[in-house]
Amino acid sequence: MPAPMTPIVEREPSQSGASQRISKAVLLRRFLSAYWLRPENALWMTLRSLTLSKIRLARPSVDISCGDGVFSFLHLGGVFDPGFDVFTSVALTAGDMFDHVSDDYRPPVETAPGDRIDVGTDFKASMLQKAERLRLYDRLVQHDNNLPLPFDDATFRTVYCNAPYWVQNIDGFLAELRRITHPQGKVILQVKLSSMKDYTLGRFEAVLGRKVLDLIGGARFDCWPTLADRSTWESRFARAGLGVHSSAPFVTRTHAHLWDVGLRPIAPLLIRMANSLTPQTRGSIKADWVDLFADLLAPLCDPHLEVFPGRHEPAEIHYVLTPLTCG
Ligand SMILES: C[S@@+](CC[C@H](N)C(=O)[O-])C[C@H]1O[C@@H](n2cnc3c(N)ncnc32)[C@H](O)[C@@H]1O
Repeated sequence: MPAPMTPIVEREPSQSGASQRISKAVLLRRFLSAYWLRPENALWMTLRSLTLSKIRLARPSVDISCGDGVFSFLHLGGVFDPGFDVFTSVALTAGDMFDHVSDDYRPPVETAPGDRIDVGTDFKASMLQKAERLRLYDRLVQHDNNLPLPFDDATFRTVYCNAPYWVQNIDGFLAELRRITHPQGKVILQVKLSSMKDYTLGRFEAVLGRKVLDLIGGARFDCWPTLADRSTWESRFARAGLGVHSSAPFVTRTHAHLWDVGLRPIAPLLIRMANSLTPQTRGSIKADWVDLFADLLAPLCDPHLEVFPGRHEPAEIHYVLTPLTCG
């Protein structure tokens, strides 16, 4: 049943999240501290948060495919104790090492986020259990995005998702996002583009060989069945009854190439090594590591940074979409 429609006053452009109050350098350090053994992911998430901070996340809000909630926690200004990171609760023997939560998983919080999120959803129970322990979401719902969303029409003022390309039934999913959005609400999607497949070492297969490319992670793209180019995404939005209010590319070809090589192949070894140290030694190496990567990545922490000559499709775009009215 549709929610009653009450007029809302939007403050635009307005901001949300940590980056409206803190510097880019501090934000980068917070993401690095949480994701230190995958610094390329920390950089990507910082760029994502910086771009997302341009818009206020009006409530009621839903974070679709919220995962363990760490991204949204940091985005909204939360601060963890330096001893915490996402590698403290992993199962290195599992296919997806993060699909695991230990009984004593309790991320130590120094500062709670400046805002809450009404609902978080995810496919994986372990992710929701981790998210629950952040005390960020009022409600968490296990849900597969290939199926209709379990919310009434026009429920949310903000519908946020940074993982839409994981969904096979993409047209059905986008139509569902529109359905649950209040007529004056916004759907915020951060979508990767298929150009990413070209921003890899794949073209050097003749030199590197298949084995090296597989070690770097050639199968990554298999998780993203509906990766598409910009015009395909925009056609999908139109078919779902979503109009593009604004769009902002924020990950360039340069960033994507850095991410492609990253520390991914050696991450399981780094995690094993880090988790077999005493907490004191782990903490001291981590502090130096975060300092080093904060300096190394600072010049790259710019959504427009491009070192390749010419114009290139971005690797990820931030879209603010509004429900189109019929007739
Ligand atoms: C890259 S993670 C992003 C998590 C979180 N939004 C973040 O920024 O850290 C993608 C998430 O999508 C979830 N996911 C994958 N397929 C899904 C599906 N069909 N339905 C719902 N969630 C799904 C995964 O469990 C995972 O938590």
